[in-house]
Order: sequence, then structure tokens, then C-alpha cells
Amino acid sequence: MAAKREHFASSITAVSALAGSAIGLGNIWRFPYMAGQNGGAAFILIYLFCVLFLAVPIMLCETIIGRNAEANTFRSLEKLAPGTSWKWLGLLTVLAPLIILSYYSVVGGWSVNYLAKSLFSGFSAENVALFGSFNSSVWMPLLSHTVFLGITALIVLGGVKKGIELFNKFSIPVLFFLILAIAVYSITLPGAGEGVRYLVKPDFRNVDDDTFINAMGQAFFSLSLGVGTVLTYSSYMKKDADIMRVGIGTAVADLIFAVIAGFAIMPAVFASGVEPGTGPGLIFETLPFIFVKLGAVAPVLSRIMSVLFFLTIVVAALTSSISMYEVGVAYIVEEKKISRRKAVLRIFIGTWLLGALCSLSFGPLSGVKVFGLTLFSLCDVVTSNFLMTFGALLFVIFTGWKLDRELVRNEFTNNGMLKLNGRLFKPFYFQIRYIAPIVIVVIFLASLN
Ligand code: PFF
Repeated sequence: MAAKREHFASSITAVSALAGSAIGLGNIWRFPYMAGQNGGAAFILIYLFCVLFLAVPIMLCETIIGRNAEANTFRSLEKLAPGTSWKWLGLLTVLAPLIILSYYSVVGGWSVNYLAKSLFSGFSAENVALFGSFNSSVWMPLLSHTVFLGITALIVLGGVKKGIELFNKFSIPVLFFLILAIAVYSITLPGAGEGVRYLVKPDFRNVDDDTFINAMGQAFFSLSLGVGTVLTYSSYMKKDADIMRVGIGTAVADLIFAVIAGFAIMPAVFASGVEPGTGPGLIFETLPFIFVKLGAVAPVLSRIMSVLFFLTIVVAALTSSISMYEVGVAYIVEEKKISRRKAVLRIFIGTWLLGALCSLSFGPLSGVKVFGLTLFSLCDVVTSNFLMTFGALLFVIFTGWKLDRELVRNEFTNNGMLKLNGRLFKPFYFQIRYIAPIVIVVIFLASLN
């Protein structure tokens, strides 16, 4: 067993760690597009509702389990429901984040590569259209994946306090500063108004069932729900932290970052007259193209903005990747009783290999398909569409139906010390017992067709 379990120093640093896990590629390449496509401000309002009334309670279930058990996901469930099959949920939630980490690190690697490009050569009309040939090549993406995963490993190697907590404590304010600076710049570009309208004009005609499904899916991925990262980080949270405040603080920070990211990206996209795309295309094709266009008018500024932009993406991706890495490390250190160093190395080897295959699935392995999907897409679909939803459902059922009500209440109210939480306990408990499980199942079934 680990000698002495480390703890985050305060609620603020716990929020910054959880917000670090939450704020990532999902906020930058998915949220702005989703908001634009699903009714602008109308989507943002629906998203806010989904986050506060559905996602936060689900997140708190993981927090309650982790903080109470003070162990990795597997041990936590075994401790709280000894001798039952619930420990398999613990194992599943060790595997899921490691699969996500493998392909996430490939994209993290592309971002590192583009950061290097912005720093050393800048984007030009010649190299900007080369994303397809870059990501389908063999060595450069593999090298970039190795660098990104290596940096993640080094931070995690530093431990809970000197690695994860320290990195997040500095990165989160820096990330907010950077994205805000980019947004201010982007909004002031000539022709940016169209992009601002795309994001904020409330358009309820575009709101239908799909909007809710999209909002929930986005909330799950963005808040890293159902895959044990929240549980593991919460196991490092102090007993006097107010988990409701930490949960809401995390969700609000994540939402604000996503909205500002929208203002950083969409006005610039519209100002340069290109079609807003989504996913990798938005970051690695549309944006470099914008930097080239700007470069023709203001080369130095364009160069600075591209560096800041890719730096933001790399740091945001790192704060997420370390949270996934830590789930595996906590499990191996505590269950296999080996040093953190060795655990970090083992996870590195496993995720590097799977990530390398994912990376190659854009090139030499693009013909290898499972259920019609390349390996990269398969890992993405299996984890974000199935494992996250399934994990979240089981966590709420475990907390609502398996755990003793008093234990849940004591964690939620810090043994009755938090009066406001005491008043909110009944609705919270009702929510996680009845509403959340039903909503998760309904949304999952609806998303299948
Ligand atoms: N929340 C991260 C993002 O929005 O990019 C992604 C993520 C991190 C998913 C950690 C799952 C996870 F366990």
C-alpha cells in the first residue's frame, strides 16, 4: 500500500485539479461548434441546465465514493461493497480513461507539433493545407505522441502534490488568461460580429430532442464523467472540503472556459470567411488557415497569436491527460504495491502502444477497421458513447441504491456541518436515485438512433 496518501492542499486546488481534468480539447473543438449548430445562446442555456441539474449530481456521486474510500477506483468500490461484483466497475473505470488517454495523446501530440510549427516556422500558404499528409504519415505523429505522453508522465511522476496539484494550480489561471486574450483579439477583428452572433443569438427553432442529447453528451465528456478520474481526484480531497461547492465550481469553470473558447474561435473563423468545421479539422486546418490570412496583413501578430493558441491547446490537453494517467497509476501503486516510478512506466508503455496504433490508423493502418471504424474512431466511440455513459449510470446507481443513505448524507454535508448542503440533501438524493438513472438511460437510447 502507498506509504501515506497525499491530499490536495485546499478546496481551491481540488477545484483546479478537477477543472483541469474537465477543461481540455472537448472545450476547444467541440463546444463552440455545438453551440453554433444547436441554437447559440439557447444551447448554452440548455447546457447550463444539464450541467447543473444532471452532470453535477452525477459528478458528486463519484466524489462521494472517492472521498469516502480514499483509494483507487477498484479499491474504493471493493471497500464500500466488499465481496460484490461492484469492483468490476472499479476495474472498468481504470481501463476506460487509459483507452481515452491513448488516443487523446495522439491529438495532444498533433497540438505539440503545431505549437512547434508556430514557434519555429509559422504557417504559410504552402504548409497550411498539409494536415492530411501530416497525420497520415508515420514518424512525426508518433514522435509527437511520444513527446506529449512523455510530458504527461513526467508531471504524474512528480506525485499528487508536487506534480498534479502544482501543475494545475499554475496552468488553470494561465489557461484562462490566454483564452481570454485570444478572445479579445478575435472579437475585435473586422467582420467578427457574424461569429459572435453565431454563438449567442438564441435560436429556439434549432432546439429539439437532439439538442438535449448533444448537451448531455458534451457535459459528460467535458466534465470527464463516469470514467473514474473524478473518483480518483476526489480520493485526494480533504475531509473538510465542501463537495457541492467543489462540484459546482468545477462545472462553472469548465463552462466559462468553453464559452470564452467559443469567442476565441468563432469570430476569427467568420472574420476570415471560412466555414466553421468541427473536431480536428477546426483546430488543425481552419485555424492555421486563419493565421496565414492574418499573416498577410500583420505577420508578427499572427505569429504570436498562433503560438498562444497552440500553447493553450497543449496545456489544456495536458491538464486532462494527467487526470486519466493518474487513475491507472493510483490503481497500480495501491494494488500491485510497486513504486510510483514503475507504475508510471507501465502505464506509459501500455498507452504509448495503443496510442501508436491509433496514430497509425490515420495512415498505414487506415484499412484496418472494426465495425467499420478505424482504431482511433473505435476507441473514441467505445469510450465516449458507451463506457462513459455506462460508468456514470453505475456510479449513480451505486451511490443512490447500494451505499448507505447515512454515509452519502455525511459525505454530502460533512457530517452535518454544512447547513445549506443539509437542506439540499433530500432533493439531491431523490435526483440521483430516480431522475439521473432514468435520464441517462433515456438519453443513451435516444442517441442510438
Ligand atoms: N474533459 C476532457 C475534455 O473536455 O477534453 C476529456 C476527458 C478528460 C475525458 C478525462 C475523460 C477523462 F477521464
